Amino acid sequence: TDPFALDFSTTPSPERRAAAEREEILADPGFGKHFTDHMATVEWTIDDGWHDASVHPYGPLSLDPSASVLHYAQEIFEGMKAYRHADGSIWSFRPDANARRFARSARRLALPELPESVFVESIRQLVTADQDWVPSAPETSLYLRPFMIATEAFLGVRAAHAVQYHCIASPAGAYFTSGPEPVSIWLSTQYARAARGGTGAAKTGGNYAASLLPQQEAYEHGCQQVMFLDSEKGEYLEELGGMNVVLVRSDGTLVTPDSDSILEGITRDSILQLALDRGLRVERRAVSLAEWRDGVADGTITEAFACGTAAVVTPIAELRGDGFTIGSPTTGAGELTMSLREELTDIQYGRRPDPHGWMVRL
Ligand code: PLP
Ligand code: COI
Repeated sequence: TDPFALDFSTTPSPERRAAAEREEILADPGFGKHFTDHMATVEWTIDDGWHDASVHPYGPLSLDPSASVLHYAQEIFEGMKAYRHADGSIWSFRPDANARRFARSARRLALPELPESVFVESIRQLVTADQDWVPSAPETSLYLRPFMIATEAFLGVRAAHAVQYHCIASPAGAYFTSGPEPVSIWLSTQYARAARGGTGAAKTGGNYAASLLPQQEAYEHGCQQVMFLDSEKGEYLEELGGMNVVLVRSDGTLVTPDSDSILEGITRDSILQLALDRGLRVERRAVSLAEWRDGVADGTITEAFACGTAAVVTPIAELRGDGFTIGSPTTGAGELTMSLREELTDIQYGRRPDPHGWMVRL
C-alpha cells in the first residue's frame, strides 16, 4: 500500500453543461478557452501535510488578498493531455514524468512536493468525472493543467505554510490556429527568459510572465512564438516561450540545446527517444545561433521544429530578428519532423504499439 495515498471525495456539479452545449464546444474547442464541469483539489498545510483531496464543481477560488501567490508568485504548474482512443478508452502520456517534473518545480519554488501517486490519481479522478469532455476528433484531446499555489495569508517573504493543489481540464484542438503548418519565430535579443541560477528549469508562472512582452513583440512582427537565447552571452539557443526547439542535420541527427535554464520537455525527450529507436543520432549540447545560421546556409541543417504538449511537433519555417533571418516564411515542413510527429501522435492516440510503455490508461 502507498503511504501517501489519499482518498478523493467527489461532489458532482449541479450545473453540468447539457450534452448539446458540450458537443458544440468539443466540435471546435480551440485551445484553453473552455473548461470542464469539475476540478480536483488537494490542500496542504505545514502542520498536516497533504489532506482533503476532492473532485468538485469547477469554479472560482476564494483567496485572501494577502495570499503569497498573488504577491511573490510562489506557484508552479504542469501541462499534459488525455487522449481518446478509437475504442473509446482514455489514456494519458507519461504522467509519471509530469509528476516528477512537478516535484522538481516544487523544490525550486520552495513548495511542498505532491506525491507522484496523488498527482496521477488526481488526474484519473478528474478525467473519470469529466470523461464526456474528452474529444474524439483527430488531433483533439483533453488538456490537463495541474497547478499549485501558495495561499497563506501573510506578507512576509518566506515559503508559505498553506498551499493548494488544483487540476483543471480544457478540451483542446491545435495550439496554433494554423495546425501543424510551419510557423515563424521571432528572435528576442533584448529580453531573456531566465538566467543562470534562476527558475528557468522550473515550470513556474514567473518565467511565462517574463516571456509575455517579447511574445507580444513576436506577434507584432507576424511571428507565432518567441525564441530566447542564453542570458549571459546571447549566443546560444535556449527555447521558445512555451516549447523546446530541435534542429535536424542533413544526416538525420537531431541537435537540441542542453541548458539548465530551460524546461526539460517531455515531448522533446520522447521525440529524441523515437529518433534513437530509429538508429538516428541525438546531440544534447550547447547550440549557438551561428551554428543554426551557418548550417542552413551550407545545407547541413535541413529542418527545425518546436515541440511541447500544446504544440505537439510544429515545423519552424523561419527565425527572424532585427536585421536577421534564418530560413523563409515559405519553408515547407521537414520530412523527418513530420514523420516523428506522426509516430508520436500514433502512439498517443493508440494507432501503433507503445514500445516504451508511455501510455497510462485513466
Ligand atoms: N518549454 C516551455 C517553456 C514550455 O512551456 C513547454 C510546455 O510545456 C515546453 C518547453 C515543452 O514541455 P513538454 O513537452 O513537457 O510539454
Ligand atoms: C504546454 O505545452 O503544456 C504549455 O504549458 C505551454 C503553453 C504554450 C500552453
